[in-house]
Amino acid sequence: MKKIIITVDGYSSCGKSTLAKALAKKLNYVFIDSGAMYRAITFYFLRNNIDWNNTGEVIEALKNIHLSFTYNEKYGSSDILLNGENVETHIREMAISDKVSDVAAVKEVREFTVAQQQTNTASKGIVMDGRDIGTVVFPEAELKIFLTADPAVRVERRYAQIVLKDPTITREEIKKNLEMRDYLDSTREISPLRKAEDAIVLDNSHLTQQEQVDLVLQWANEKINS
Ligand code: CDP
Repeated sequence: MKKIIITVDGYSSCGKSTLAKALAKKLNYVFIDSGAMYRAITFYFLRNNIDWNNTGEVIEALKNIHLSFTYNEKYGSSDILLNGENVETHIREMAISDKVSDVAAVKEVREFTVAQQQTNTASKGIVMDGRDIGTVVFPEAELKIFLTADPAVRVERRYAQIVLKDPTITREEIKKNLEMRDYLDSTREISPLRKAEDAIVLDNSHLTQQEQVDLVLQWANEKINS
């Protein structure tokens, strides 16, 4: 059967990874969370006191970073490994969310991650989510989704995820972080977040996870069978 590339881009906390993961599972495709890569690099920079405004330091640091994914049996998803260390829990913390959009705006960081996203996936049968997947990483993808949701819904979804691990978190903190990242991601010079011309906009504010997966699967099957 024909295999395709599906890209899921959109604003912070719209449920891109949830959708991409479910699609990959249904289609038996590889799922790649490109945001996890930017988050893992941010974690490395913070841990090693790398100044990401210093190009020389960034270039040297990137030479020491190896990113890979491993399957997590317990959660049925993939965890990111930074130089072999599972950093999945660390990269979801607010300290990383606060800085990741600054790091993701650095040219050398983007070149490093995009090259890896493209080589890891020379074959098709991929669902990748992020900000620039349909525009820069896979402009030739057969199916591109641009996901949106009401800001209040997005805050509530992310709050529900984080409060389980950090009971001190407030909705206000999350709202500020999402707004800041959306602003930085949309206005940066290199590969800003924008809808690819041929992407389908999907507002999932009032859809259940099952409804959104069924809808996108229908579009995917149309592409696969065309
Ligand atoms: O899950 P959430 O939507 O909150 O974010 P994420 O997908 O984990 O991405 C974290 C950050 O990485 C984003 O806010 C962007 O700054 C950056 N990113 C990017 O620049 N390009 C991508 N393809 C994916 C993420």
